[in-house]
Amino acid sequence: MTAREPTVSVLLEPGWEQGSLVDDVRRGLGSQPRTLPPTWLYDDVGSRLFDEITTLPEYYPTEAERAILRDHAGDIAAAVDATTLVELGSGTSDKTRLLLDALTAHGRLERFVPVDVSEGTLREAAARLAQAYPGLEVSALVGDFTLHLGHLPEGGRRMVAFLGGTIGNFYLEERGAFLGALADQLSPGDWFLLGTDLVKSADRLIAAYDDPGGVTERFVTNALAVLNRELGADFDLDAFSYVPFWDSRMQRMDLRLRADAPQRVRIPGAGLEVDLAMGEEIRVEISTKFLPSQVDAELAAVGFQVAHRWSDPAGDYAVTLARLG
Ligand code: AVJ
Repeated sequence: MTAREPTVSVLLEPGWEQGSLVDDVRRGLGSQPRTLPPTWLYDDVGSRLFDEITTLPEYYPTEAERAILRDHAGDIAAAVDATTLVELGSGTSDKTRLLLDALTAHGRLERFVPVDVSEGTLREAAARLAQAYPGLEVSALVGDFTLHLGHLPEGGRRMVAFLGGTIGNFYLEERGAFLGALADQLSPGDWFLLGTDLVKSADRLIAAYDDPGGVTERFVTNALAVLNRELGADFDLDAFSYVPFWDSRMQRMDLRLRADAPQRVRIPGAGLEVDLAMGEEIRVEISTKFLPSQVDAELAAVGFQVAHRWSDPAGDYAVTLARLG
């Protein structure tokens, strides 16, 4: 069979990044507690640092999820009758190949729809996948999965995969809104495959987000470098300390930067001047950890029924398969 050309549809307006960055910075840094949304951590430098994080011995989620897909992609393929696989936040679709192999071997899969904000990464991934899976229609969407769920392809039996534990970046209310919007777009009988990191000891969690080589610290601090570059801000990167902590009440890692001295930061591109008191913190990312029962409850709240759940042998991570009722 000859490979079909992949199609790539761009749903993002040119310049959207600048516009939403300014909005996010005004809202997040202009109010208290100060926050920055994690989306902006993943420029080229940040993406490279995150890739490095995934290879750290302390950072278990990536390998745990890969092991689950390696061991159970066949079970997943046997459980579903999907003809279209949609992957939200697909990046390079690296781990997804385990799923694609199983779903194409099973014979029902016709179409793969990777969705990502990074057009370059997506185009490359789409071209490689079209080569590797001749006979599979690859229709990539350059879009933001918090904004563009209304553009998911119609027709056939769909399975939406949302892997990597990315759902842990959302606040509780954002999670509800996201899951509700997703359920809204799917039809009864469609599938949802969700990767979630699980609650475990604070020690292991903190170790996973505070590696001794400082890769995670550089990754989080890069958020300020992005503002310096994109908005002409004058953050002094050396004047902040990285403070990761486990918030046991909210069951999430809370990754912050703390101003070591009082400082005034100018952010001309956002028309903002921010006075930070000594010790004041900016929250850059949260990473929520789940109990399986909580995943079930949040899925059930929007109409999904859990069909299966797979964990790695250590029980660190879960991949949940649910079906819209
Ligand atoms: C990519 C969002 C799943 O929350 O573990 C890793 C990001 N931040 N180390 C996570 C991250 C610091 C990661 N996610």
